[in-house]
Amino acid sequence: MTRLVELEANGPRKLEPSDIDDEKGDVAVCQCGLSAELPFCDGSHRATSDEEEGTTYVYDDDGERSVVDRIVTHRDRVDDGHE
Ligand code: FES
Repeated sequence: MTRLVELEANGPRKLEPSDIDDEKGDVAVCQCGLSAELPFCDGSHRATSDEEEGTTYVYDDDGERSVVDRIVTHRDRVDDGHE
């Protein structure tokens, strides 16, 4: 299965103290979708720091970035009345 993830976040969200496992200590959940340690942040979000607003990117398994045209999803088609 191939999954294309479209996200706007470019950094982690720190968990609240009640979310933190006492044995693991401080952890952050990945919101950029690039972590190799999902759901946890592994620092891969640094590659997104120069992304431009309004541009859609795809990262391959080697971390190489490509710019793609806007992706039309099934949901977009339903919202436009084109199901
Ligand atoms: S937020 Fe995704 S790797 Fe840090």
